[in-house]
Amino acid sequence: MLILGIESSCDETAAAVVKDGTHILSSVISSQIDVHSRYGGVVPELASRMHIEAVHPVVSSALEQAGVTPGDLDGIAATRGPGLIGALLVGFCYAKAFALARDLPLAGVNHLHAHIYSLFLEEDHPEFPFIALVVSGGHTNIYHVRSHKEFILMGQTRDDAAGEAFDKIAKMLDLGYPGGPIIEKLANQGQPLKEKFPRTLLEKDSFDFSFSGLKSSVLRYLTTHPVRSDTDKMNIAASFQEAVIDVLTTKLIRAAAHQQCGRIAITGGVSANRTFAEHLSREAKSRGIKVYAPSPGLCTDNGAMIAARGFHMLRNNDLCEHDADVFSREKTA
Ligand code: KG4
Ligand code: ZN
Repeated sequence: MLILGIESSCDETAAAVVKDGTHILSSVISSQIDVHSRYGGVVPELASRMHIEAVHPVVSSALEQAGVTPGDLDGIAATRGPGLIGALLVGFCYAKAFALARDLPLAGVNHLHAHIYSLFLEEDHPEFPFIALVVSGGHTNIYHVRSHKEFILMGQTRDDAAGEAFDKIAKMLDLGYPGGPIIEKLANQGQPLKEKFPRTLLEKDSFDFSFSGLKSSVLRYLTTHPVRSDTDKMNIAASFQEAVIDVLTTKLIRAAAHQQCGRIAITGGVSANRTFAEHLSREAKSRGIKVYAPSPGLCTDNGAMIAARGFHMLRNNDLCEHDADVFSREKTA
């Protein structure tokens, strides 16, 4: 089955053609980072406008690079939410029109579930059930994934997402946007400070996260210890990253123990952080737990993960009506 996947929930316009939910025939990503970085974060109105300009060329390139025509496709999958409404509307409406014109079935994909499907695009992927962390600029969710239909949300952030914390600390240190990759690079060159930043673990039985205390504590540290050199920045980055990694690792291992599950998967932009993946793998291995992570290029937003999730939805006849709308937030209640 050949599925065209379209993603436009934030600042990447992406399209991909994927065969049977596992084999990527093409994956094209048009990033808007250069424009948003001038403002230190994503500007929703600019994002929508740039998606409008990019969506058709990106889809055309994805089809061309895969060597297929619209007539070869078996279905279309597009991100329906969560994300920026204006941005989502562009990709989703384009997909609806494409599906209608070509008489193809359409899947309206949950972006967070799709991140989990980036794992299935790798040869070494987890069997059900497994614990999955979707950790990005907007979310820090732990799921117990039992089947292609059951994603049980075990915990989520009560304030900032982990990626958002990386981005905000980078802004405080005047490092640019997005902060994650820059902080990781600096952290690798630094040494954690003697004074540790807090690890907020909340209630003993909770799988929720809170990163706002950590953010405030870095801000307080900076007011009393002004940055004087690049080494100062590197050491602060190393301490901050260590605190985030500690919290994510502790909660994931607790979640796996709670579900008596021997498999943990991490996905989403922050899981591109190799220091995190390596630390978690080491800690998990000593407890007999195996860790799965997509290659860095599949951790961040892409169209292939949308097509991979869409493949399973279309196979289960989980189709989207043509009057379906996008959604900005996931219903968690
Ligand atoms: O999944 P993603 O591309 O988009 C969203 O759905 O949000 O994630 C983007 C987030 C940003 O906050 C970015 O700073 C973070 O992922 N990120 C990283 C790394 N690469 C990207 N965070 C830590 N370390 C990285 N190497
Ligand atoms: Zn994402």
